[in-house]
Amino acid sequence: MAAPRDASHTTDESAERSLPADSLGPRPFPVEPPYDQSTRDPVPVLELLDVSKIYRTGEIEVAALRNVSLRIEENEFVAITGPSGSGKSTLMHILGCLDVPSSGVFRLAGHDVQTFDENQLADVRNRFIGFVFQQFNLLAYLSAWRNVELPLVYAKVRPAERKARALAALDVVGLADRAQHKPGELSGGQQQRVAVARALVTEPGMILADEPTGNLDSTATADVLALLDELHRAGRTIVLITHEHDVAARAQRTVMIRDGGVFVPTAAAVGA
Ligand SMILES: Nc1ncnc2c1ncn2[C@@H]1O[C@H](COP(=O)(O)OP(=O)(O)OP(=O)(O)O)[C@@H](O)[C@H]1O
Ligand SMILES: [Mg+2]
Repeated sequence: MAAPRDASHTTDESAERSLPADSLGPRPFPVEPPYDQSTRDPVPVLELLDVSKIYRTGEIEVAALRNVSLRIEENEFVAITGPSGSGKSTLMHILGCLDVPSSGVFRLAGHDVQTFDENQLADVRNRFIGFVFQQFNLLAYLSAWRNVELPLVYAKVRPAERKARALAALDVVGLADRAQHKPGELSGGQQQRVAVARALVTEPGMILADEPTGNLDSTATADVLALLDELHRAGRTIVLITHEHDVAARAQRTVMIRDGGVFVPTAAAVGA
């Protein structure tokens, strides 16, 4: 008599096998485009038209972004730089659908984001965008792989596949041997690589990174930047916020923000 088939084992193995090959590759935008597919190519991934963001705290108003217009094409690697308080994180929150403009239009892959309901916004954030933050934002009581699988929990992926994909993402960032470690048992650079793995695990088309190397030494910075380069080469759109010139130099293009606006330097300022 044939031995009974171990269904769970088979499922685990097939999930593991199917992952690493494309674990760096982007997935398509999840929302059905409202326009003809044939017109899709020239549509930028991110497009801001005259976007302003005003924060109101009691009587005080802060114009964090003023009339920003910006296009970022698919598979571009763009750095956003500017001094503290200039509006970089505000811009990233809008690009990441974590916040909405006070005025102006924000289109994501041609879709007017203002028309999305909460479910669609959550879906876009979960499936299309990978976030990396300066403070890593890892949960201290969960192991590295449990942290990495979290976006897949929200995406309702089944447990065996979640684990296989989390381990594959940790492998991509060179931390396969640290899967069981908690964040407190990892160096700062390793924690940020776990955060990059978490950003990757849903196979998003775009990575938004806000000062991802701000808390890292030069070796760990080099590791994280090399990873972003690799993700870019694999077809992803990368938006990297930084105030460090040498970090920004890794991008194909730099957008400078000053006082909430896009700053176009004069030739003299560039030379300075
Ligand atoms: N939730 C908020 N409520 C009120 N004001 C805010 C809020 N978030 C940001 N601001 C203000 O908006 C401006 C832009 O802030 P933002 O965080 O975008 O700057 P940043 O360029 O990311 O700075 P840093 O380099 O220090 O991170 C600042 O003047 C800040 O005080
Ligand atoms: Mg900031």
